[in-house]
Order: sequence, then structure tokens, then C-alpha cells
Amino acid sequence: MNMVISGTGSAVPKLLVTNDDLGRLMDTSDAWIQSRTGIRNRRLAVEETTTGLAVGASLEALADAGIAAEDLDLILAATVTPDQFLPNLACEVQGALGASGAVAFDVNAACSGFLFALDTAALYLKNLCERTPDGADRTALVIGAETLSKIMDWNDRSTCVLFGDGAGAAVLRAQPSGSEKRGIRGMVQRTDGARGGVLSCRNRPVNHPYAKRQEPPAYVSMDGQEVYRFAVRTVPETIREAVDQAGFSMADIDLFLLHQANLRILESVAKRLKQPMEKFPVNLDEYGNTSAASVPILLDDVRKQGKIKEGSRIVLAGFGAGLTCGATVLVW
Ligand code: UT7
Repeated sequence: MNMVISGTGSAVPKLLVTNDDLGRLMDTSDAWIQSRTGIRNRRLAVEETTTGLAVGASLEALADAGIAAEDLDLILAATVTPDQFLPNLACEVQGALGASGAVAFDVNAACSGFLFALDTAALYLKNLCERTPDGADRTALVIGAETLSKIMDWNDRSTCVLFGDGAGAAVLRAQPSGSEKRGIRGMVQRTDGARGGVLSCRNRPVNHPYAKRQEPPAYVSMDGQEVYRFAVRTVPETIREAVDQAGFSMADIDLFLLHQANLRILESVAKRLKQPMEKFPVNLDEYGNTSAASVPILLDDVRKQGKIKEGSRIVLAGFGAGLTCGATVLVW
């Protein structure tokens, strides 16, 4: 059984905000943001919504894969910033696409969300194929979509300058026969809920007649250095485990597509894995940290640049709130 990504797509808001633009709003500078993170620009939603961006990315991914929405069996959307509590983002996308045969639900694993959703989709499709052995391909649409700008404290320069809005999507096909050895070859997920407090955003407090409390609205709060330490230690470990599982050596890997949070984190992971930075494509300079959207946007960017060829060995890896971390190894 091969779990193959057969199409990708992405969508970002129109408004491009530079570091200098932010420097006119708050006490920050292009020099600080670039030297600490590598970020130069980010896109912020004005008219756009999480659903609209997710649908845009999905339409591109379906067209790229040559799949009709009606043929989808599953839609998983990874997000921490859906437009509404209910229905969930995946259901919204299903309705907008007319994917009437698909089961749709959301996955919340923050910046690891796309990785967790991709692996969940692979396991779901495998089970579906085993239960209904009619020889047909099974297909999932996996989305990472965020409008993080709405949960940022725009008075907190230590967080709001880091993030951006956008969406990416991938079509995952379970192909019971043929083209052996393609697709997902290893997947590892980790969770450390005991340390979740270092990157969090509280939901609404209880608010009923018996528990009236006045609480200020909540925004993302982060102990950046703790998250940094978690990332540079856990991401290489998780990647090593997934690469071992796939039966590859680190040198066999052509591209490492990592969650785009900070250039220094990417450099540190590359160093710890003893791999050259050329294998670690970067687009955080243009989009900032788009949480669950960052890995699928990067995958789509890299494909559009022609850097992925049939047989390319690729690591996808994400990390973030939870704390969570995930790595998937695939052969294109
Ligand atoms: O998706 C996963 C989520 N998050 C991450 O991956 C984040 C991981 N962590 C990081 O990327 C880094 O820790 C940050 C970029 C968030 C911060 O970099 P840092 O080198 O750890 O800086 P810091 O927090 O230690 O702050 C250093 C100084 C402080 O000033 P003092 O106390 O030294 O005077 C901050 O107040 O930089 C100041 N500062 C800023 N200055 C200008 C914090 N934010 C800003 C800002 N502009 N935007």
C-alpha cells in the first residue's frame, strides 16, 4: 500500500506587511526581526478568512492531482484559528468544494498540525482500503490553514512580529497496488502536554449565570526561548527516528521541509543532523510563521520551483504548541 502525495496547493492573503511596516506600529525594527528570526515579510488577512484560504489551497491541490472533489473520501483540516467553533473548518471546506462523499473533521496540533493530520489521513485511508478491498484508490485532502493574526496580541512585540496568515493543502492517495516504494515511508509523532504552558492561548472562559467572571480577551503567549530549546532538541531526534523507520540514512534525504518558525532553528537542526543548509528550503522570510500552514505552503513552493522530482526523498517536520513534534519521510 502506497500513501502518495499527488497534488499540492497554497493560498495567502493579499496584504504584505514588512518588518519596517511593523516598526511604524510598535517598538521593533527590521534589524531585530531579521537577525533573530530571518523573517522579512508576512501576509495578513484583511478580507480573507481561514475557510477562504483553505478552499483556495484545496482547489489548487485538487487541480494539481487531477482529482474531482466528489472523489474525496476524507478531508482533514489542521488549524488553531478556524473562523468559527462549529461547524469545523473541514466541514466548511467540504461544503464549499461539494465533496459530498468525504468525511470531514479538524485536527488541532498547532504548528505540528499538518504533520499530525497527514499521518492520521494515511492511517485512516489504509484502514478504509483494508475494510473495503474493491481495488479502488482512496483519497484524502489534508489542509493546514490559519489566520493567526486574530489571536495575536498586537501590543506584544515579542510574538506578533513572528506570525503570518495562509493555507496549504495536499492530496494524499492510498494506492493499493503498483508504483512500489513510493509515498510515506516513516512517520513519528511526539507530544509533551506537561510543558504546554510555554506556548498557549486560552479559549473563552465559562460564562453562564452561575460563574460570572470578567476576564480580558486571551491572546497567544509564548516563552520563546523554551520553545526554541524544545525545537532544537526534539526536531532532530524525531527526524532521526522517522528516517531510521524509513530505512534511510540522513545522507539519503534530498530535502528537509521544516516548519518555518525561525531561521536559526533551521540552521541548528541542519547542524545537529550534519546536513547542509541547501537541503533545508526557507520561505519564512516571505510568510513568517504560519503555524499549521507552513509545511504545506513550503511543500507547494518547493514543488513550484521544480526542486522535487520523482524519487526525491523528503522529510516533512513540524513542531509547536502542545508541545508537539512530528516528522514524516516520503519518497516522491
Ligand atoms: O511555531 C513554533 C512557535 N515558536 C517558535 O518557534 C519560537 C521559538 N523562539 C524564537 O524564535 C526566539 O526565542 C524569539 C525569536 C521568539 C526571540 O528571540 P530571542 O533571541 O530568544 O530573544 P529574547 O526573547 O531573549 O529577547 C531579547 C530582547 C529582549 O530585550 P532585553 O530584555 O534583552 O532588553 C526583548 O524585550 O529582544 C527584545 N525584543 C524585541 N526587540 C525588538 C523582543 N521582541 C522584540 C521585537 N523587536 N519584536
